[in-house]
Amino acid sequence: MAGKQVFTINGSPRKDFNTAALLHAFADGAREVETEVEVVEVNLYDLHFTGCRECYVCKLRNGRSYGHCGFCDDITDYLDRVAHADVVAFGSPIFFSEITAQLRAFLERLWYPFVQFKRGEEQIIAPQPVRTAFLIPMNLTEQAMLRSGYDALLSPVLRWTQYIFGHEPRVQYCFDTLQYRDYDRYWADAWNIAAKQRRHEQHFPTDLVQAHQLGRSMLEASLTE
Ligand SMILES: Cc1cc2nc3c(=O)[nH]c(=O)nc-3n(C[C@H](O)[C@H](O)[C@H](O)COP(=O)(O)O)c2cc1C
Repeated sequence: MAGKQVFTINGSPRKDFNTAALLHAFADGAREVETEVEVVEVNLYDLHFTGCRECYVCKLRNGRSYGHCGFCDDITDYLDRVAHADVVAFGSPIFFSEITAQLRAFLERLWYPFVQFKRGEEQIIAPQPVRTAFLIPMNLTEQAMLRSGYDALLSPVLRWTQYIFGHEPRVQYCFDTLQYRDYDRYWADAWNIAAKQRRHEQHFPTDLVQAHQLGRSMLEASLTE
């Protein structure tokens, strides 16, 4: 059992709000299964990096970095480590109907080296299957989210992750989140603030329990391999 490694990748600029809380609950769930599990928390907004630079070092014939991201910045080391982890939870708030630019940039760098275009060989060269989860909070309610088609916009991210890492990603949406601790300080009265606060008090704890259970069940599943 010992030696399992979990990554939580926070794609929210905030390190103490909805996404972070969901990721912490997820990590706690994993720790509950095995206290020795190593949890590596990455806050993408603390790091200096970009999306794929099209240097194509990962595709060079006889290149030392073939199949690895050869562009050096703050995430380079994390990319290979994440691909060798047992469980990876990606967290991102919805920004304009999609995951944040930082998480998208991280995923471009993570995915692309593992897709190869050698005739007659497997297209995917990720070192191993990885169990992944996406924890995605947003302002909208579930009904509004479905009406707005976010699930269709998010589906390529989930499909690429599954194609490259071999497991279907688990997805937990978290709806109608509290955007501010103190709504009085901001112009936000287009929202029903009382209803949002009620929802936060009554439902967010359930979201955290769900994230905790997800972390727990994903680590348990990794132990059965
Ligand atoms: C730039 C920006 C764009 C946003 N766009 C959306 C959106 O399209 N749909 C939505 O439901 N919420 C949107 N939100 C709200 C966030 O998704 C929501 O507040 C989320 O809970 C923030 O996560 P955090 O608390 O972890 O930072 C947006 C917030 C920001 C700052």
